[in-house]
Amino acid sequence: MKKLIIANWKMNPQTVEEARHLVSAIEHRMSSVVDNVEVVICAPFVYLPALSHYTHHLSLGAQNISWVEHGAMTGEISASQVKQWKANYVILGHSERRLNLGETDSIVNAKIFTALKYKLTPIVCLGAEEDATKDEMKAIVTKQFNKVTKHLEPKELENIIYVYEPTWSISTSRHSYPATGEHALELINHIYSLLEKKLAKGVARNIRVLYGGTVNKDNVHEYAKYPEIDGALVGAASLDSDNFWQVVTEFNRESVHK
Ligand code: PGA
Repeated sequence: MKKLIIANWKMNPQTVEEARHLVSAIEHRMSSVVDNVEVVICAPFVYLPALSHYTHHLSLGAQNISWVEHGAMTGEISASQVKQWKANYVILGHSERRLNLGETDSIVNAKIFTALKYKLTPIVCLGAEEDATKDEMKAIVTKQFNKVTKHLEPKELENIIYVYEPTWSISTSRHSYPATGEHALELINHIYSLLEKKLAKGVARNIRVLYGGTVNKDNVHEYAKYPEIDGALVGAASLDSDNFWQVVTEFNRESVHK
């Protein structure tokens, strides 16, 4: 299974020209040596039409959708609207939406159902909001996992990408610091154990579980060295094509070695 590196551009960049420039720099490099990594660019909605021309070597994703399929939802965007611009992925349950916009686990659950219905692969973020002991963090992740995956069939659980991304590790959050590779590995294995409880034997390990939180060219090795970490969700570093590219190539290099 290829590693997956997902760029979360958040509310950046500020112009469509910059967005085009950034994506074309990455797409151009993707056409060369990278055999073991797939890249997904999760861009602001308004850039998806312009970026839909750059999908030969990478995929596009949105950063949110409404759980409602169409109709009276002022300011929201539907799954079918993002699908028409070649977005095949959507980030759901990001902690910035949970903290700033009141998104709850049951809303995330409803959005997962809608995404899957429209064949958008959900990229579901899980992770504690505050610094806590490792056992407390595992308990929080367990609770989130059980709520966001409520009533999902095993086949649906398999079609989700899971990201362990604690709020305290996000580069822009206050007093942030990245998780150690060891910590990320332990919590990712914990997510695998939750999946194993719901799926037939052997299936869970074929699902991608990623780490997110201040991954960049300087620390990527810390995560890429573990075969169990299937890739990364990258925020700030994804806005600099050189930095992002080094994250991609490090995961590529490590997976070639294994
Ligand atoms: P960061 O963001 O890489 O800037 O920490 C990651 C994210 O919020 O998904």
